[in-house]
Amino acid sequence: MKIRYLFTAIACFAAVSFGYAQKTVIKPKPEILKLINDDLSFAGAQYKFLMKHVPADSLPETFRPDGTWQSCAAKSWTSGFYPGTLFYLCLDKKDTMLYNEGLRRLKIMESQKTINSHDIGFMMYCSFGNAMKLNADPSYKDILLTSAQSLSKRFNPKVGCTMSWGSKPGEFRVIIDNMMNLELLMWATKATGDSSYAKIAISHANTTMKNHFRPDYSSYHLVNYNSETGQVIRKQTVQGYADDSAWGRGQGWGLYGFTMMYRETKDPKYLKQAKGIANFILSSPNLPADKVPYWDFNTPGKPNAFRDASAGAIYASALIELAGYVDAVNAKRYVDAAETIIKTLSSSAFRSPYGGTGGFILKHSVGHLPKGVLIDVPLTYADYYFVEAMLRYKNLGK
Ligand code: GLY
Repeated sequence: MKIRYLFTAIACFAAVSFGYAQKTVIKPKPEILKLINDDLSFAGAQYKFLMKHVPADSLPETFRPDGTWQSCAAKSWTSGFYPGTLFYLCLDKKDTMLYNEGLRRLKIMESQKTINSHDIGFMMYCSFGNAMKLNADPSYKDILLTSAQSLSKRFNPKVGCTMSWGSKPGEFRVIIDNMMNLELLMWATKATGDSSYAKIAISHANTTMKNHFRPDYSSYHLVNYNSETGQVIRKQTVQGYADDSAWGRGQGWGLYGFTMMYRETKDPKYLKQAKGIANFILSSPNLPADKVPYWDFNTPGKPNAFRDASAGAIYASALIELAGYVDAVNAKRYVDAAETIIKTLSSSAFRSPYGGTGGFILKHSVGHLPKGVLIDVPLTYADYYFVEAMLRYKNLGK
């Protein structure tokens, strides 16, 4: 499709892309829309700065404190966020330079459609999936279907889940993050009519709901299963403070994942789960008043502990969607919280200055603190979910 025709269609596609039927219609506030439009203009300019510093054969990951850029290979779990953000920005406002940069990066990623990785949904659906919202190129559909087939191969019916991390013989490790990869599978069933993909996603969501969560709806990060019997061997929180703590981003993956599964299935148990997780997050005494969480709810050292902008951005995006499925009181609670997060992330405490932080939009995310990597740095997935949250907010009431 020629670019000039492409962009005339964007307004229609944008409504469809975020077009879940809202139960409660909440109107966006003019002052938040103004802030968001300023943030999105800034984000476009900032990514034009970033793109000058991304090596031709890779994807950006972060900007180091020593003033150098760090890239990632196409096989990294984070690879799809940069092109995905570029396409989101084009959904908001036509921009040929950002669009063409996104297309260049897709070329690097295409070969990943057969990768044996639990993260393939993040990688391919955030990139090719967003490209498809702008241009229904049949090759994108083929790439995404091959990706969904690749993910399906990691399903173990005894456990009822797709495998996350490589596991010792007889073991089968599943992380809460994997909820995010189910959207690719749900899409594959809609695209083909083959229910096998959705069956895997539903089984994975049901098993995760049963074993990853505590009575207060906080979640463990990792559940290790016996691969032959499906019995739980151990529950851990590898990227958080302690096994029984609530890792900040992990709570976001659960909130977003179950909200998405409710959108796709309309099964009320997923809505109950998403509402329970939202309530855990929003009523926690460990959530700062500005609602951008610490890297772990139970970290020592509060209030000076590291915050995680990426977790805040994921919460904001998920809460805006969830608000559309609930009664007016909860809807207001979720949208109010999302507005607070967007305001916090838009402030100079979290938003980079133009040309600052290497061209990333947000500062202050935490990748893997226990491992000592990517601590208090910009990260592509913080930018991605921040932009997504703002587009979802703009679409409120439509
Ligand atoms: N999926 C890895 C992370 O959230 O850090």
